[in-house]
Amino acid sequence: MPQIIDGKKISAMIKDELKTQVTALKSKQEVSICLAVIQVGNDPASAVYVGNKKKACAYIGIDSLSYELPEETSQAQLMDLIGELNHKAEVTGILVQLPLPEHIDEDAVIRAIDPAKDVDGFHPQSVGALCIGQPGFVSCTPAGIIQLLKRSGIEIAGRECVVVGRSNIVGKPMALLLLRENGTVTVAHSRTENLKEVTGRADILVVAVGRPKMITREYVKEGAVVIDVGIHRNEDGRLCGDVDYEDVAPICSAITPVPGGVGPMTIAMLMHNCVEAGKAGRR
Ligand code: GUN
Repeated sequence: MPQIIDGKKISAMIKDELKTQVTALKSKQEVSICLAVIQVGNDPASAVYVGNKKKACAYIGIDSLSYELPEETSQAQLMDLIGELNHKAEVTGILVQLPLPEHIDEDAVIRAIDPAKDVDGFHPQSVGALCIGQPGFVSCTPAGIIQLLKRSGIEIAGRECVVVGRSNIVGKPMALLLLRENGTVTVAHSRTENLKEVTGRADILVVAVGRPKMITREYVKEGAVVIDVGIHRNEDGRLCGDVDYEDVAPICSAITPVPGGVGPMTIAMLMHNCVEAGKAGRR
C-alpha cells in the first residue's frame, strides 16, 4: 500500500511551530502580526474559507481584522480600503478573498495590495520574485505541497515532475517551486496532446485540473508520488479530488487523500506568510 500523505497532521505541526514562534516573538514584544481579511459579497464557500482563516489566526496568536463588504461594493471603494490598509502600520498582511463579484477587476485589486503585505503571494511582484528566485511571498497551496513532499521525505531534486493545470494560483507557481527544488518540470494542461503519455513519465505528479476523478491509473506510472489539489462534492455528497483515489492509490508509492491532503496546507502556509510579513514589518 502507498504512503498516505497526511496533510491534516503536517498542517497541524506547522501551525504549532508557528504558534511557538509567535508566542516567543510576542513575549519579547518584538513584533505585531495582524491579518486584514476582506470579503466582498456573501458567497457561502468564501465565508467558510474566511472563517477558517480567522480561526487559524486566533489559534496561532495572530490578530485579525475582518471586512465584510456588500456585493454591490464598487471597485473604487474596495481600492480605497486596500490603500488605507496598505498605510496602516499595525496591519502586516492583507488578504482579499477570491472570487470577487463580476463588476470588480480582480487583477487591479491584487495589484493594489502592497507587496510587503501580500500574504497570498498573488501580486505580480511576488510572482516575478518567485520566477527569478528572489525572496517574496509564495502562493499558499503550491508552497504547502512542497512542505508535504519535504516533510514526507520525498526527494524532488532530479526527478520528473509533471504539473497538470496552469492556473496563476496553483499550476504556474507549483512548476516554479518544483524547479527551485531542482525537479525536472513539465506543465501539462487542457490542450496537451497525449496527456497520459506525459503524466505517465512523472515521478511526482501534481494534479490541479478541477475535474472530479479525472486521473485514473492509466495516467500514472507505477511507484509515482501523486498529489491531488482538486476538491469536489459528488452526487452522494461525498468529497473527492481530481484523482480517482481508489483506482490510483494501489499503484503509487505515496498519495494525498481528499479531504485531508493538500487542503489543510493552504491555511498553514497562509499563517506562515503572515508570520513572515509580521517579522519583516518589525518596527
Ligand atoms: N479563493 C480560493 N482560494 C483562495 C486563496 O488562496 N486566497 C484567496 N484570497 N482567495 C481564494
